[in-house]
Amino acid sequence: MNEEDKKDKQDTPGKERGKTIGRRDILQGLSSVPVLGLFGYAVKKQTDYENARLESKTTAMAPAGKISDINVALLGGGDQGEVLLNSMLKIPGLRFRAICDIWTEYNQKRLVNRLKKYNFEVNGYEDYQEMLDKEKDLDAVVIATPDFWHARHAVDCLRAGKHVYCEKEMSNTLEGAKSMVLTARETGKLLQIGHQRRSNPRYLHCYEKLLGEARLLGRIVTAHGQWNRSVKPDNGWPQRYAIPDDRLKKYGFSSMQQFRNWRWYKGLGGGPIVDLGSHQIDIFNWYLGASPSHVIASGGTDYYDPASHEWYDTVMAIYEFQTPAGKARAYYKTQTTNGSQGYFETFMGDQGTLVISESEASYSGSIYREISAPAWDEWVRKGYIAAPKEQAVKSEDTRVVLDVRESVSPDEHRVPVELTDPYHKPHLENFFNAIRGAATLNCPAEVGYETAVTVLKVNEAIEANQRLAFNPEEFRI
Ligand SMILES: NC(=O)c1ccc[n+]([C@@H]2O[C@H](COP(=O)([O-])OP(=O)(O)OC[C@H]3O[C@@H](n4cnc5c(N)ncnc54)[C@H](O)[C@@H]3O)[C@@H](O)[C@H]2O)c1
Repeated sequence: MNEEDKKDKQDTPGKERGKTIGRRDILQGLSSVPVLGLFGYAVKKQTDYENARLESKTTAMAPAGKISDINVALLGGGDQGEVLLNSMLKIPGLRFRAICDIWTEYNQKRLVNRLKKYNFEVNGYEDYQEMLDKEKDLDAVVIATPDFWHARHAVDCLRAGKHVYCEKEMSNTLEGAKSMVLTARETGKLLQIGHQRRSNPRYLHCYEKLLGEARLLGRIVTAHGQWNRSVKPDNGWPQRYAIPDDRLKKYGFSSMQQFRNWRWYKGLGGGPIVDLGSHQIDIFNWYLGASPSHVIASGGTDYYDPASHEWYDTVMAIYEFQTPAGKARAYYKTQTTNGSQGYFETFMGDQGTLVISESEASYSGSIYREISAPAWDEWVRKGYIAAPKEQAVKSEDTRVVLDVRESVSPDEHRVPVELTDPYHKPHLENFFNAIRGAATLNCPAEVGYETAVTVLKVNEAIEANQRLAFNPEEFRI
């Protein structure tokens, strides 16, 4: 199990952080905002990007129907499938009907047995077509198969009349991602892409209140993000549960080694930049309110065996954005050989800096005011940010000589929003609420597509060894 998966398996640690606004408070706060209010503040108004989202031609909310319990199948019951299932088991009104997984003797069996313990009458399938043929009552399919299966799975489920929640990366190819958008439009069914930060109350609070309403960062000129992960051995498998070769081949895998480590193989996944980076590069696009104009990148398989790690283990990429407020540059690094300093995103404007992470354990959210910026007392009073934690003054330390030209470090204000649910639960709730006609999707197909275009270009830029331009039309379908 990788770090990305592990985080949802653990309970979120409680923390002392002064005043804490819970998820419920935020959602209550947001409920006073009109339906489009989730996207209704100044940042959105300025941007073509969000306008595109609002004009999204795929369905973002099902017509209010009679659905009470929603019949759900999970397609792909590996590490992430289980993480999603754990979250879904905490959501009322879901009736699990089927688990489809080609690893019948292990993952499928485990999850079917688990659901039976919760008294669900659930069937196991190896072949998703058979599942779609037999499970006529399904309302929704949640897809957590390897990336190269997403397009086929999502398109066929949508065509069978199901609403679909599909994990990121939407697809490992743009043709695949495009077919998903077009099929969602054609069928009128919901397609939510699994960029779960889009429904995380802390990310929404920062986007709407801090960057939007209060405009605390001023003009954002740079951003950076990273996901640092320690060296880890390849995924193994219990030998007695190995999948026979003919079944592996039928589903596109050359061996158990490849089946268990598909992320590293060309044609199956996209490597860490796609696997991990897509979450955070998606936030660049969202918070900057734009799609990038150019990307330059360097990467390689510098550490692992390239025979079993075809995609790059280390990548550094720089995007250029033409935002409504002006030029911005965003740097992203993913490294898989050292986990120090973990994962987070930073946005730096002429009035402040925001550091945010999905991780509740580190950097979850802090904002720093530039000393030249207007006071933030009003936002502290309103509870948008916590009162500042004063920087320690080292005046008694006579060994330290500060250069007079050095900027004084700004005070840290915590972002007072914690997610006390599993990380994926709000995004799944958003999907199921949209099926009930009670919410609009936070990451509909068009948004997932724009992120896929942004992220997949990094691998292209590394291969081309060139600064590549995005044509604005590339982001639209
Ligand atoms: N949103 C997140 O935070 C997050 C985290 C981890 C993974 N993911 C995404 O979830 C997806 C799954 O990743 P994972 O880590 O669980 O991988 P995994 O290899 O652990 O699990 C994949 C599962 O799919 C099954 N499978 C493979 N091909 C299939 C097919 N054709 N039909 C049915 N079942 C099939 C496998 O048997 C396995 O059980 C990926 O797209 C990944 O990018 C998202």
